[in-house]
Amino acid sequence: MAAGKLAGRNALITGASKGLGKAMALALGKEGASIALVARDMDRLAAVAEEIRGNGSDAELYSLDVSNEAAVRELEAASLARFGHIDILINNAGINLRKPVTEFTLDEWNQVLSVNLTSAFLLCRSFVPQMKGRGYGRIINMTSTMGHVSLPGRTAYSATKAALIGFTKALALELADEAITVVGISPGPFATEMNLPLLQDPEINQQFIANIPVGRWGRVEEIGALAAFLCSDEAAFLTGTDILIDGGWCAR
Ligand SMILES: NC(=O)c1ccc[n+]([C@@H]2O[C@H](COP(=O)([O-])OP(=O)(O)OC[C@H]3O[C@@H](n4cnc5c(N)ncnc54)[C@H](OP(=O)(O)O)[C@@H]3O)[C@@H](O)[C@H]2O)c1
Repeated sequence: MAAGKLAGRNALITGASKGLGKAMALALGKEGASIALVARDMDRLAAVAEEIRGNGSDAELYSLDVSNEAAVRELEAASLARFGHIDILINNAGINLRKPVTEFTLDEWNQVLSVNLTSAFLLCRSFVPQMKGRGYGRIINMTSTMGHVSLPGRTAYSATKAALIGFTKALALELADEAITVVGISPGPFATEMNLPLLQDPEINQQFIANIPVGRWGRVEEIGALAAFLCSDEAAFLTGTDILIDGGWCAR
């Protein structure tokens, strides 16, 4: 087992095949946690698992659609059989469809809600019961600055992230006496594949940077470091809140 402040902890992270989820998986792995990696892309998950194992921690991959109820139940059974218990759950999988509300089909709207919001409910329903009674538990929900403020073309996305902040607060109250903390992380703009359409358009890219007070996109390692801290024993009093990590975006 790798040494570190999360040695002996088991974490399950959705959306761990790339971007912020991958960064959190690597950060928690470096602190000694064993990681259950969840997403759809097996090849990418396998590469992340290899990197974590290379750093001395255990990792297993699970390929599924987190918005599928039956698949999440199967994940519950398989991961608990493999790891015994899960101490840390990070609901990070998410999608963003950017377009005016009038151009959304109902299927598209429901897809954003299912992946960004309903999946967190399904995962918590599966893993909270076995977290209870252990004297330690951590749930992190990846919310967004777009749950606090917004932009045109983000109706579905912003609706899910604002709802996830509400979900985070209510669940934190439900679990406070179990020493299970529930916290949201609201990233500002980070340079991941989700933001490729913005990064690849020089004009939009410049507009974004001009609106970020620190003058740059976020680095995925900065999310990894925050998640590792939130999972530490030192963060036991930090619950029922949402942490903006946005280079000052929302301070304007
Ligand atoms: N990047 C930002 O600036 C930013 C800002 C605010 C909030 N966030 C939030 O942070 C989270 C991660 O974003 P990111 O930038 O890292 O995005 P990303 O690079 O697009 O990664 C999204 C992850 O979610 C997984 N995923 C998507 N749909 C899924 C499904 N139905 N079932 C299982 N896994 C699914 C993807 O894996 P597969 O494709 O392999 O399934 C991937 O691992 C999201 O919730 C996002 O809303 C990001």
